[in-house]
Amino acid sequence: MKMIDQTALPGKLAYVTYTRPEQVAEAIKAMVVRGAPAIGVAAAMGVALAAARSKKKDLGEFMKELEFSASLLRSTRPTAVNLFWGIDRVMRSARAAKSTAEARKSVSKEVKIMEEEDIETNRRLGRVGADLIDDGDTVLTQCNAGALATVGYGTALGVVRAAVEQGKLVKVLVPETRPALQGARLTAFELVTDGIDCTVIPDTAVGHMIRVGRVDKVIVGADRITRDGFVFNKIGTYQEAVLADRHNVPFYPAAPHSTFDIVRTHDQVIIEERSFDEVVHIRGRRIVPKGVSIANPAFDMTPPELVTALVSDMGLVRKPFKLNILRAISQSPPSPSMSSG
Ligand code: MRU
Repeated sequence: MKMIDQTALPGKLAYVTYTRPEQVAEAIKAMVVRGAPAIGVAAAMGVALAAARSKKKDLGEFMKELEFSASLLRSTRPTAVNLFWGIDRVMRSARAAKSTAEARKSVSKEVKIMEEEDIETNRRLGRVGADLIDDGDTVLTQCNAGALATVGYGTALGVVRAAVEQGKLVKVLVPETRPALQGARLTAFELVTDGIDCTVIPDTAVGHMIRVGRVDKVIVGADRITRDGFVFNKIGTYQEAVLADRHNVPFYPAAPHSTFDIVRTHDQVIIEERSFDEVVHIRGRRIVPKGVSIANPAFDMTPPELVTALVSDMGLVRKPFKLNILRAISQSPPSPSMSSG
């Protein structure tokens, strides 16, 4: 399994190769690969590596090995439901097999399908969202919900890309997204590479930029959208939603069907707390005095009343979300997240 080391960007476009599921689990934890759809497919590939490496001939023992790797991969990050969706999907294909050879084959086939589906899903979602964008718009985003956060094309940035492909002029405002700087490092890297107009701002400038009228639409990704319409995304998203609401700017989360958790409600979601080191140090240099308490929540939750509509490959999901999320899911052929995490 080969992928870009996102921790090295934008300084270096380096690739890492993994052959064992434990390496993939470590890579997800360390955010070598990150972004909800990307970790879903990466974790599924981790299971496929376990299947390919297993020497077990007995199907029961083979499945035990797979379950072990699956639970290791499930324990890496708790918030993005795509992770659990990806693992569950390949595990389902393994469980349906009648022999280890068949299980190995169907797991690797399923992962390949997921990889291809992801790009197609994002393109569809992009077209849905692009219709909301007017020529000349400035879009505020958060974190990185682009090609790097998916297999390709992106979700929030997929919307921007699709609008640009329609011939619209779109500018993107990119908050740096402390502490891991996915906005400054990754979103800016993607947009500059594609020649899309992009301006990086400090996270603290978001309110000002919205108030002075420099934002036409907010488009963000999502790590989980619960059945009751709450949106979990990178820390800082909630403040964008509140400020957008205050200044009558539309707020659109963009996410594929695999981000919709039709089992859980908002109070059942775990918000990941990451290492204090990410806050205390900037690129290796300590910026906080010793002895100070630190908190580092990686995600936040935006309630449905602050969301204008949800952009998805299933179409534009409007309010009431409780009803329309279930309606969209039941009308869409691909499997939603009825997942284990
Ligand atoms: O901690 P990260 O970098 O994995 O968080 C990523 C985000 O919050 C993205 O906005 C989200 O996963 C959507 S990606 C298409």
